[in-house]
Amino acid sequence: MNNKHAIQMLNITKIFNETVIANKNLTFEVEAGEIHALVGENGAGKSTLMSILFGLYQPTSGEILVNGKKTLISNPIKANKLGIGMVHQHFKLVDVNTVWENIALGDEDTLLFGFLDKNKIKTKITEIMNEYKLYVDLDAKIQNISIGMQQRVEILKILYRNANILVFDEPTAVLTPQQIDGLLEVIVNLKKAGKTIIFISHKMDEIKKIADRATVIRHGEKIVTLDMKETTPQQVAEAMVGRKLVEVKNKYTKPKSNEPILKIINLSVKKETNNKINALENFNLEVKPGEIVAIAGVEGNGQKELIEAITGLRKPSTGGIVFNKLNINNFSIKKRYAEGMSHIPEDRHKYGMILDFSVSENIVLQQIDQKPFSKNGFISSSEIQKYSQKIINEFDVRGTRNGAATARGLSGGNQQKAVVGRELRKEHNLLVVVQPTRGLDIGAIEYIHQQILDEKIKDVGVLLVSYELNEVMALADRIVVINDGKVIGELPGKNAKKEQIGLMMAGQKVEV
Ligand SMILES: Nc1ncnc2c1ncn2[C@@H]1O[C@H](COP(=O)(O)OP(=O)(O)OP(=O)(O)O)[C@@H](O)[C@H]1O
Ligand SMILES: [Mg+2]
Repeated sequence: MNNKHAIQMLNITKIFNETVIANKNLTFEVEAGEIHALVGENGAGKSTLMSILFGLYQPTSGEILVNGKKTLISNPIKANKLGIGMVHQHFKLVDVNTVWENIALGDEDTLLFGFLDKNKIKTKITEIMNEYKLYVDLDAKIQNISIGMQQRVEILKILYRNANILVFDEPTAVLTPQQIDGLLEVIVNLKKAGKTIIFISHKMDEIKKIADRATVIRHGEKIVTLDMKETTPQQVAEAMVGRKLVEVKNKYTKPKSNEPILKIINLSVKKETNNKINALENFNLEVKPGEIVAIAGVEGNGQKELIEAITGLRKPSTGGIVFNKLNINNFSIKKRYAEGMSHIPEDRHKYGMILDFSVSENIVLQQIDQKPFSKNGFISSSEIQKYSQKIINEFDVRGTRNGAATARGLSGGNQQKAVVGRELRKEHNLLVVVQPTRGLDIGAIEYIHQQILDEKIKDVGVLLVSYELNEVMALADRIVVINDGKVIGELPGKNAKKEQIGLMMAGQKVEV
């Protein structure tokens, strides 16, 4: 039968723990062969809806039609059989296995004869790679390849299982701008080959670029489905947040004091993967109170090592770091924190939070042994509750059940808001922040950007690492461009040109 719709999710309601309404009587219909964007604020219910489609959750009520036929999708294996594949927000690969093993493992046909025919599998994967121009080194181990490559493995994995309907849950949130262009191209190629695509993203320009239609959801309910030929990115954004958006921008006030709060002197740090090579070489940098200094650069040019050296996760091989006029080279992470350093890390799962702890516990994580949260060896849950609730309200962290929900139960963007709130409200005079708005919706980005700009008023020094040029340009007083572990140039944030920064990022020296 030739049905116009590949997917019809009708009147879907999903309630968690009898209280959290993640989807409310929501109808979502996707035509065969289109790229359909699913947009909504953090916690709006996008991932939940897709998890229902993929058989990870059962809806509380509502029904699903696949290619016009009513279906019960009881588990992901059933979803696979129906031709539905999903690239999750957080990858599910086995680190120690190779790329080809990850693609083939778990596929029923692979094990049909009880053994793996390695050559046959690799030939099949190579055919798929050629068809969609989606190349990965099949013999590499997952732990040794970049996030961008891991994502390709996830895509290959579902294509290997003959998926016709592909769901991408915020695939670009983990990628650099350079990798994003590549992925969007792959998605368009998939559409050309006749696949149906559901694409979740918070970035309106991406949606405008590739989507045929976009469905907007808010607080679990469907608001509207838009034809992207007739809709501007601004219109999608405003339908999503339900109000007009304002542009947040630095006013470029001068720092009050010339005495730096952070001074990095001739710092060299070895590469994580090879201790013979410097990831960072003779690096010098100053941040003054009330100043936002942004490090711009292509990911992997020493930013990670710089941040790890400053925050105490990694020992420099030479050079020093002076913070509050103290040489902190031998300070522990905890001591740096106590001295007034706040850190919003890039990887919120590895360093930002403990996923099995409650949101409240995560908010007081580093201060739990201090007053008022601990007194005479006793933990005060009422103080923890009071403090964390304040941050949850202020930063609009949704779905926390008054802080009692585990961090794992929060949507990706809401986890990030909790970490940002914790670090900004803790007493500090230096903020080290990496990719603060990754995975956040437009309204939340607006809010967090304003918060970072407000740090200037409080005379906090801010060191920002971001791969998003728009973010760097909106926030920085001074932009330092890093290339191959060295400062390649510096320019004032005011009147900075994207093209100039782009050239420097690529390694060219530019006169400013
Ligand atoms: N397993 C779960 N248990 C309890 N509550 C959950 C669970 N999964 C999601 N929720 C809640 O359901 C709501 C919708 O979350 P969901 O992850 O679907 O949002 P989202 O639109 O994908 O957001 P984001 O853009 O931040 O990824 C949130 O309030 C979230 O806290
Ligand atoms: Mg999500």
